[in-house]
Amino acid sequence: MTVNIEGIELHLAHPDELAVTWVGQEEAMRQLMAAWMVLEDRDMPMNPRLLGKPGVGKTTMAYAGAKRLGRDVYILQATVDTRPEDLLITPVIESASKLKYVASPLVSAMIRGGVSILDEGNRMSEKSWASLAPLLDNRRYVESIVAGIKIKAHPNFRLVATMNEDSSTFDLPEYIHSRLQPQILIDFPEREEELAILRENLPFSNEDILQYVTDFLQQAHAADESYTVRDGLNVARYALKLRHETGEPDRASLRSAILLVLGEEALRYSIRR
Ligand SMILES: Nc1ncnc2c1ncn2[C@@H]1O[C@H](COP(=O)(O)OP(=O)(O)OP(=O)(O)O)[C@@H](O)[C@H]1O
Ligand SMILES: [Mg+2]
Repeated sequence: MTVNIEGIELHLAHPDELAVTWVGQEEAMRQLMAAWMVLEDRDMPMNPRLLGKPGVGKTTMAYAGAKRLGRDVYILQATVDTRPEDLLITPVIESASKLKYVASPLVSAMIRGGVSILDEGNRMSEKSWASLAPLLDNRRYVESIVAGIKIKAHPNFRLVATMNEDSSTFDLPEYIHSRLQPQILIDFPEREEELAILRENLPFSNEDILQYVTDFLQQAHAADESYTVRDGLNVARYALKLRHETGEPDRASLRSAILLVLGEEALRYSIRR
């Protein structure tokens, strides 16, 4: 799909289609929906920042929230190598004499009135973030130096950034932080919610394995260990595979799965209360 802006033909990205259902944790979801809503003509949507440990569900919630709005979702995965033009428009050589301009997922969402997820946003540098400053305040536009055009965001455009709490990230400057508000924290779920999340993601698992992994995760959360739903899903998924392959009982498969997925230290949370 292409659009013409100020005489430049832009090739747009396709929206992302993920099979994702958000289970429980409604408070965080409501905080996200509130940030995106617009009260009246003079109001503006906000640009929330999702925080939480690796694997708690930040990307999943951003996606599920966007789908609740009924919008298309465009995910831009930020990395240390993300340059300002990667966020906006990149020129691609089409033939000897012709350049083609390709819009990023972010710019595609701005034009189509979709939702852009800037995933793991603090993996990219301040220099890249700086190109988004006008988009994130009441100006709601970006300027592409490469294509020489200004692009205004569609009124339906929404943005959410997810941020990771690990060492391989940048500390963003205050002027960026102040434009990425509110900060929504996704915390560990309660037991019943965690069980429901595992069940949703592994509908083919037996109940015993799901219960066991839920207990494991809850004990780890209580000890302030950083194992998240993703770790639990990996353990349960691998235990199911091991059981199928080796014919071992559930408990032996779970023990091996914990050992092979999370390492020996994790075994201390594997005893059922
Ligand atoms: N409330 C939930 N409902 C449904 N699935 C969930 C929920 N919370 C977590 N998950 C599942 O947990 C896994 C990890 O989630 P996700 O990838 O969104 O985490 P993340 O916080 O973005 O991780 P990272 O920091 O590594 O990017 C996914 O498989 C997701 O489906
Ligand atoms: Mg993520």
